[in-house]
Amino acid sequence: MGVASWSAFAEGETSPHIQVLAASCAACHGTNGNSVGGTSVLAGLDKSHFILQMMAFRTGTRSSTVMHRHAKGLTVDEINALADYFAEQPRQINTFPPSQLKEGTKNADE
Ligand code: HEC
Repeated sequence: MGVASWSAFAEGETSPHIQVLAASCAACHGTNGNSVGGTSVLAGLDKSHFILQMMAFRTGTRSSTVMHRHAKGLTVDEINALADYFAEQPRQINTFPPSQLKEGTKNADE
């Protein structure tokens, strides 16, 4: 038995390192990405959408209030792992923050 490496985690399992990173997002994006405030719901978010947004925050292509700082603090591997993690989280709410509603659509309960 050697020192634990990231590869010790089987497909579909989240490493403790990624769990800690994901928990740091919870302050704004809710538990497991189920935001109840005004921020985007990350739970069940399409993986490529997630990665594209994070890369856009990093490079400044997408302007942001806080996310550029978070995105710049993460490696590409971490962003990929977080994209996997959040894509796998079940959505526990069925209302979206107004900013995430497509133009002309409403939440089901409105
Ligand atoms: C301090 C609050 C805060 C924290 C902590 C935070 N976010 Fe965000 N996040 C935001 C805000 C606000 C936005 C909207 C863009 C902006 O203004 O920065 C956003 C947007 C996003 C988006 C774009 C969603 C979309 O569909 O457009 C993603 C992806 C995202 N955050 C991921 C993360 C991840 C991953 C973490 C943890 C590493 C994290 N956020 C931590 C506040 C936060």
